[in-house]
Amino acid sequence: MTSAVNPITVTITGAGGQIGYAALFRIASGALFGPNQPVALRLLEIPQGVKAAEGAALELVDGAFPLLASVDIATEPAAGFDGANIALLVGSRPRTAGMERADLLAANGAIFGPQGRAINDHAADDVRVLVVGNPANTNALIAQRNAPDVPAERFTALTRLDHNRAVGLLAERAGAAVADIAGVTIWGNHSTTQYPDLSHATIAGRPALDVVGTEWGRGAYIDRVANRGAEIIEVRGGSSVASAANAAIDHVRDWALGTAPGAWTSAALPSTGHYGIPAGIIASVPVRSAGDAAGVAANWEVVDGLDVDEFSRARIDASVAELVAERDQVAALGLIPGA
Ligand code: NAD
Ligand code: LMR
Repeated sequence: MTSAVNPITVTITGAGGQIGYAALFRIASGALFGPNQPVALRLLEIPQGVKAAEGAALELVDGAFPLLASVDIATEPAAGFDGANIALLVGSRPRTAGMERADLLAANGAIFGPQGRAINDHAADDVRVLVVGNPANTNALIAQRNAPDVPAERFTALTRLDHNRAVGLLAERAGAAVADIAGVTIWGNHSTTQYPDLSHATIAGRPALDVVGTEWGRGAYIDRVANRGAEIIEVRGGSSVASAANAAIDHVRDWALGTAPGAWTSAALPSTGHYGIPAGIIASVPVRSAGDAAGVAANWEVVDGLDVDEFSRARIDASVAELVAERDQVAALGLIPGA
């Protein structure tokens, strides 16, 4: 309310839930677009979640955030996405111990068709979408295919949490600083088939696989990163929250403001056939963004031309095959128009 700059409207679904609660206050304090860009928050919930969203809205007032232009709560997707520049699709049921994320396909898939249609019809022309709710890649596919008027590349799914886990666990193993690590990639699905790839990673300029050894870097490390979600559920008794909110913020911030020169990160985007991934599948790949001073006209660009050896090829293909099977499953459920 203090700035002449137009606010960016950020819609968060499931804003009354755990990840929503962890994300809202950081977004209000400028974590997405920096210290000079006001934001208008739109909290989209189902009726059962409205009280929690209202409570968060009261606390947002109590935060007296200079960059927070407004907070509105909606229960209808049309109102929730009206004029949205950024849509964070978090709202959905989390898995519990013993479940795989794919077990959520039918239950959560039904949420993302109507939300995709509402984004198509009501969001701002420059809308950019990040799906966090699981199974994130296939939910993003459902939303994207229900929004035919929005450019496909505006729909993304969160694998930044996997990327951050991959960097954090590598730094821990090597006794290195996170800031010294570069060139890590997450390929494929946000699931246990994902491939955290150290082939091009460096630690303070040295090949990471030389530092930590190929046996660990292409063995136990992959399993640890890919199963970290289940490890968190096991240890804390519920799925990851603050690290997931943090990763969602990292994703949108780097998309809008740009990745560091020469650096890349990981995000799941609709394939245009890059790296042999079937067109349309929303798979994680190495990405960079040049950003945009206005914050919302930026695009992810796939980092092309990385060498993919036989080991990596097999891992990428296995995770992509899982995504193709998930696509076929939700198509059979009638969740993808025309499929
Ligand atoms: P939560 O149960 O605390 O919150 C979910 C919220 O979504 C609830 O408030 C619920 O009322 C709301 N909701 C349900 N259906 C909705 C709909 N149709 N529209 C709007 N809101 C709706 O769960 P959480 O811990 O915040 O997790 C949310 C999702 O994020 C889960 O699917 C979880 O598995 C997923 N997740 C993904 C990642 C990732 O890396 N991609 C990481 C962690 C969690
Ligand atoms: C995670 O990776 O922590 C989330 O996807 C939650 C889960 O179910 O694993």
